Amino acid sequence: MSQPRRFWIRSFGCQMNVHDSEKLENLLHHAGYEAAADADAADLLIINTCSIRGKAEHKLYSDLGTLRAWRSASRGRVIGVGGCVAQQQGHRILERFEQVDFVFGTHNLRRVPALADAALSGRRAARIDASASLDRFDLPERHPAFASATPGRAYLTVMEGCDMFCSFCIVPTTRGREISRPAAGILDEARRLAEGGVHEVTLLGQTVNAYGRHDVRRGTARGKGTMPFAELLAHLDAIPGLERIRYTSPHPIFFDDELVRAHRELPSLCPHVHLPLQSGSDRILTAMRRRYTASEYRAIVAALRTARPDLAITSDVIVAFPGETEADFQATLAVVEDVSLVDSFSFKYSPRPGTRAAERAGRVPEPEAQARLERVQALQARLRFAGHRARLGDVTEILVEGPSRRGGRQLRGRDPQHRLVNLADGAGLRPGDLARVRIVEATPHSLIGEALGSGASQAPRGGSHDGVKTGPGPADEMRRAEPSRGQPMGVTG
Ligand code: 5AD
Ligand code: SF4
Repeated sequence: MSQPRRFWIRSFGCQMNVHDSEKLENLLHHAGYEAAADADAADLLIINTCSIRGKAEHKLYSDLGTLRAWRSASRGRVIGVGGCVAQQQGHRILERFEQVDFVFGTHNLRRVPALADAALSGRRAARIDASASLDRFDLPERHPAFASATPGRAYLTVMEGCDMFCSFCIVPTTRGREISRPAAGILDEARRLAEGGVHEVTLLGQTVNAYGRHDVRRGTARGKGTMPFAELLAHLDAIPGLERIRYTSPHPIFFDDELVRAHRELPSLCPHVHLPLQSGSDRILTAMRRRYTASEYRAIVAALRTARPDLAITSDVIVAFPGETEADFQATLAVVEDVSLVDSFSFKYSPRPGTRAAERAGRVPEPEAQARLERVQALQARLRFAGHRARLGDVTEILVEGPSRRGGRQLRGRDPQHRLVNLADGAGLRPGDLARVRIVEATPHSLIGEALGSGASQAPRGGSHDGVKTGPGPADEMRRAEPSRGQPMGVTG
């Protein structure tokens, strides 16, 4: 028999893309492919692209330049391009880059094994048909080989697409219309994950807390098997073994009383919400078509903190949106400071072709945009460090992720607020374990803890109520099979 064909996937962008790459690995495995140890050992190289900002898209084009040599280094090698750039560019990628063998859109993951088979037989093709079908959620059972990349943790898709059309954002074009997955499939997958040793699930969706809303509004939720988001959370909370539930990214306008109450009542719901702000100026929020005001944003944060006092808020902020004045920018700084964001991802506005904002006048000159980015990041660094110092002495629980970047025998993990905690001595602990720790040191980027003994039973689910704030770390892209440096938390929202 001939050697099995081996694949290597490079993934850029948000958690949705990272999770799509996991789904691809699994689909390819079921089609008889094997994971390669690295790109050099692969016959099939897949790039899962991101187009949220111009920089992410350009990364694909520069990568494809260097991959020409990879492809011609050995006979029979093929390259597939998927994700958001593929969805937008489709056949144009095949026309422009002779080294690309196939292209697949964001709704076409299930077609990849057939596209790869055809490519390996010399046939080039692109499939980017957008579909309103639910069959994209029907995937084969996750093979254990692909469940171990993040021991103890897993992503779980609950909805896809976005109907919000914020004026700066390309996602409604690349990910298509909002569609919610029937709850039965979500709960089945969650149960199987928990039975397989997963303690923490992160529910994914472009506007995750809009889950079920169209069906609920139209009165078709029962028939479609969906329900309001807060109800879905309650069902997930009841699953034995699932100790932590996170969700990303919510949109502020879909926070209702039920979701706020869920944060008070559901023990496994983590005290962390990644709540994209984008701007603190009402004028700019209107131009962004965000549909909330700065004071409504503040009110949601206040309600969440009343429900769960130790809740950490992290966020996304865009600076230098067309027409943003110094006063608008200062309004953003004021919200970031007033709500004590413990972390945020901040971006310079990047015009995306085909979006409304790309046609807006009032581009902020680049040096000014850069200066604003640095100012918001300096404020964030100060708030993050203050948030860390406030945690000194806390007893909390971490889910161990793996070796710390600090080297030695140190381990790293995340607490319920999604803060990175490094353990000076993690003897006896393995990735995927839950461990009780005391915070003994605060640094600008992480916390340092000492282990108090392991076991989920010793700490309340979703973490104690006496911690404070947290969030993710930076990094705009990741490669499969490499430990992530804390990816961006959001999948937009
Ligand atoms: N320019 C800059 N940032 C953007 N984001 C989305 N679109 C753009 C754009 N055109 C940011 C938003 C979103 C995050 C994932 O990326 O802050 O929440
Ligand atoms: Fe949708 Fe979020 Fe993009 Fe707005 S920013 S269009 S809510 S994905």
